[in-house]
Amino acid sequence: MARKSPARPSRTQRRTLAIYVLNGPNLNLLGVREPEVYGRMTLAEIGRAVAARARTHGLEVIFRQSNHEGELVDWIQEARTRSCGVILNAGAYTHTSVAIHDALRALDRPLIEVHLSTPYTREPFRHHSYVSPVATGVICGLKDTGYLLAVDALASLLKDQTA
Ligand code: DQA
Repeated sequence: MARKSPARPSRTQRRTLAIYVLNGPNLNLLGVREPEVYGRMTLAEIGRAVAARARTHGLEVIFRQSNHEGELVDWIQEARTRSCGVILNAGAYTHTSVAIHDALRALDRPLIEVHLSTPYTREPFRHHSYVSPVATGVICGLKDTGYLLAVDALASLLKDQTA
């Protein structure tokens, strides 16, 4: 069945609501964790680059990371009313979490799924995503650049919605 289009933020909401960029387990170890797979940038560096890119589109960013599934669910629920869109790298929860899938189904905002690596060419247990069926788009395999492209994609979707 076709997925319902996300709610249209009004022009004012687009100006005042932030993009939520949410990161799941172990992404706090970026820079030291398997750099050949995930790149050498730390999460803090990615956060700064994302905020700078978002500013070029006139957008604010709330950038967070948690190792806890329930905390990510709480933030996704918060994003229903406080964000104009979400960028999510759910880390390993991508492949396991029905709770995150359900929270995202209720999000009603544009959602870009991001992965630094390409899970679909790695171990079989990474081939299924509980995020993809409810994502507006998926970006993977481009390391930290994927986050910046996700900001551009979200900005473009938001502009289309408010045009
Ligand atoms: C990841 C891919 C996941 O399979 C893995 O568990 C991660 C990072 C990525 O960004 O490539 O923690 O989401």
